[in-house]
Amino acid sequence: MKNPFDLLEQNSLAFKLTPISYREIFHLVEVPCDIYGNVDGLFKVVIHKRGEVHAAIIKDLISRKIKNIFVLEEHRTLLREVQQEHLRSVTRSLSIGDSQEKAKLMANALTLNMGYLYEDPTNDAILSLQVQSAKNFSLFLYNKPQLHETLFKEFIKQGHHYVLSQPFISTLFFIGVLKQSRLYAEKDIELFFLTSYLKDVGMSAIPVEKFNEEELDEGSKKLLASHPQLSLNILKGRAPLPPNFMKIIENHHIFSTLTNEKTLHDKEDELIYGFETIMMAVMDTVAAMITPRPFRKPHTLFNALDVVRVLISEQYPQEFKLIVHYFRNFFKEQ
Ligand SMILES: [Fe+2]
Repeated sequence: MKNPFDLLEQNSLAFKLTPISYREIFHLVEVPCDIYGNVDGLFKVVIHKRGEVHAAIIKDLISRKIKNIFVLEEHRTLLREVQQEHLRSVTRSLSIGDSQEKAKLMANALTLNMGYLYEDPTNDAILSLQVQSAKNFSLFLYNKPQLHETLFKEFIKQGHHYVLSQPFISTLFFIGVLKQSRLYAEKDIELFFLTSYLKDVGMSAIPVEKFNEEELDEGSKKLLASHPQLSLNILKGRAPLPPNFMKIIENHHIFSTLTNEKTLHDKEDELIYGFETIMMAVMDTVAAMITPRPFRKPHTLFNALDVVRVLISEQYPQEFKLIVHYFRNFFKEQ
């Protein structure tokens, strides 16, 4: 770069650009703004506004080792709005076409919007879109358990940050085990899905990047430990969850996979956990253990179920049996 004006322009771009992920543009027909990449150390437009996005373009960028892409800070909301419109349109057309493909698109779109919600948890429009879309998805998934295994595998491949993918995976397992128990009416399913899916929204108090560190600092650990309460604060009066469902959120942790601490109350304690709370908490633990983290490999399902056995099999033997049975059916190919 010889021209000093180019250097100035590059410096000013560095301040104005904000990173986005490939997932945010992958399913769009065209991009609503210029997409920048770092090409040989310089910020350059790699897809122009209104430019088409298709697999070949993304493949070309990745083959040129353009790992990080950006948009101008002022355009961030444009991209968010296009993604949210995409989420609305997938939600509306869930029942049309190939169910497996629709489930995959929906899980992806919902997770991207979850990211927007974590960035801005007090934004009513984002929360209400998330609630409405998750409600529609809940019955679709509840009625199609045959899609769950493939959906789980495809969803993992999409590579969302674990803080954002964990709520969906644990909720998928939870809804599956409720289906298997045959104890619930459809209207309850929507509420259980929302409860499980939104239970960790309090984790938005900690920046997503911090979760990549092996050791969280003390302040973050404290915030993390209080995330069920933070979730309640965020959702209170804003999410359509009755008080007993809010109570489940408050008690949704029986074990922390981050600190390896058991938080399940012992028999002598006053707190009695209902079937749904235990199931939700256990599915959360299994989902966390069998999926990878930046600082560890995934555990085997066998290991995860062994932890569950230690945690609940004495107090909740029937529930434990149901869980083992559920996972044995879930991973048919293993
Ligand atoms: Fe949690």
